[in-house]
Amino acid sequence: KKSFRVVVLSGDGIGPEVVSEAVRVLEVVSASSPDVELKLEPHLFGGCAIDATGQPLPESTLQACKEADAILMGSVGGPKWDVNSKVRPEQGLLGLRKALGLYANIRPANFASESLLAYSPLKPSVAQGVDIIVIRELIGGAYFGERKELGPNDDTAYDTMIYSIPEVQRITRVAAQIALTSNPPLPIHSIDKANVLASSRLWRKVVVETLQNEYPQLKLDHTLVDSASMIIVANPKKLNGVIVTENLFGDILSDEASVIPGSLGLLPSASLAGAPSVADALSPDFKPTPGLYEPIHGSAPDIAGQGIANPVGTILSAAMLLRYSLGLNRYAQAIEDAVRKVLDDKEKGGFELRTADLGGSVKTKEIGDKIVEVLKGLL
Ligand code: NAD
Ligand code: IPM
Ligand code: MN
Repeated sequence: KKSFRVVVLSGDGIGPEVVSEAVRVLEVVSASSPDVELKLEPHLFGGCAIDATGQPLPESTLQACKEADAILMGSVGGPKWDVNSKVRPEQGLLGLRKALGLYANIRPANFASESLLAYSPLKPSVAQGVDIIVIRELIGGAYFGERKELGPNDDTAYDTMIYSIPEVQRITRVAAQIALTSNPPLPIHSIDKANVLASSRLWRKVVVETLQNEYPQLKLDHTLVDSASMIIVANPKKLNGVIVTENLFGDILSDEASVIPGSLGLLPSASLAGAPSVADALSPDFKPTPGLYEPIHGSAPDIAGQGIANPVGTILSAAMLLRYSLGLNRYAQAIEDAVRKVLDDKEKGGFELRTADLGGSVKTKEIGDKIVEVLKGLL
């Protein structure tokens, strides 16, 4: 029996509510598989870790994350922890990404379920057929460049958007590898602000050169970020394929892209220290990529504690965890199929299972129950 260590960081706000459902799904996989055992280890992280230890990323949590095969995270932050205080929950997340070298953030906005079309704020003709995977550079740019806070006796503060050639080369290679997982390969859309920013001119030059030299077969185009943010809601199919972009632009554009399926609560993500291997664990090609898996949304303080958050983004993150870090494609696929079936099926009485973000009144746990039930039938 193969045993894997999975660190679970529930975090704050709705984090523990959505993570509980993803944990149940992972427990079903572990219990129903004769060859795999998942050892789930909860650790303190974020605001709750500040309350307990004074730090958002305690040393013991970081150590456990370094030793784990994969990490499942909920969300951190909230109004309880002031953005002006010296120690903030979000620093834990940024510190963990940096400490583990998780430079590649994969945010698929392409979860195909026709039944969601009616829930998108976009017209069905606009939302239908969108197939976008956002690859966001995660440990560079303005998030990690030189920063000056506003001091008591001055009137300036700044952040520096900085990129090096190797940082852009490696994220371009991840985008290329993801593009090549489809046949024919997906087109790559690089998004920058090269008409204004020096870091974007470096970005564009390096993306062009890396693809020309190493992946000449891939199609590449460039869109300025202001225009891209319009296209994502006006005609998103124009960006079908792989979007590759820097840290801050990727943060903003991926939340915007969640409008297409209809809710921020639906989108998963994987943060990796390299290109993912999509081979099965049993294949000699499989290289496990340690990673951090989390929904793209935050702690949703406006609905926390009510048991009404959508757990789908977190459950799909758990599926990505099984696929990329553990090589358990079959189980990842089963989870995605179970989620799709639960979203597509009508209950007795003809209603669909929808949480409040999608206009329904079904609770977090009820969606979890249903996904667990369907999953058991598939395994
Ligand atoms: P948010 O993503 O928490 O919420 C934005 C909106 O989307 C809210 O109306 C919320 O109710 C809704 N929403 C989000 N996830 C949902 C879900 N699963 N189901 C239903 N509705 C959902 O963004 P925010 O309000 O700007 O940020 C709140 C806090 O979360 C801040 O402290 C921020 O720093 C933090 N944050 C953390 C992460 C993370 O941990 N990865 C990501 C984003 C924001
Ligand atoms: C995300 C979040 C984080 C980010 C914050 C909480 C640091 O918004 O994961 O998208 O900006 O990367
Ligand atoms: Mn974000």
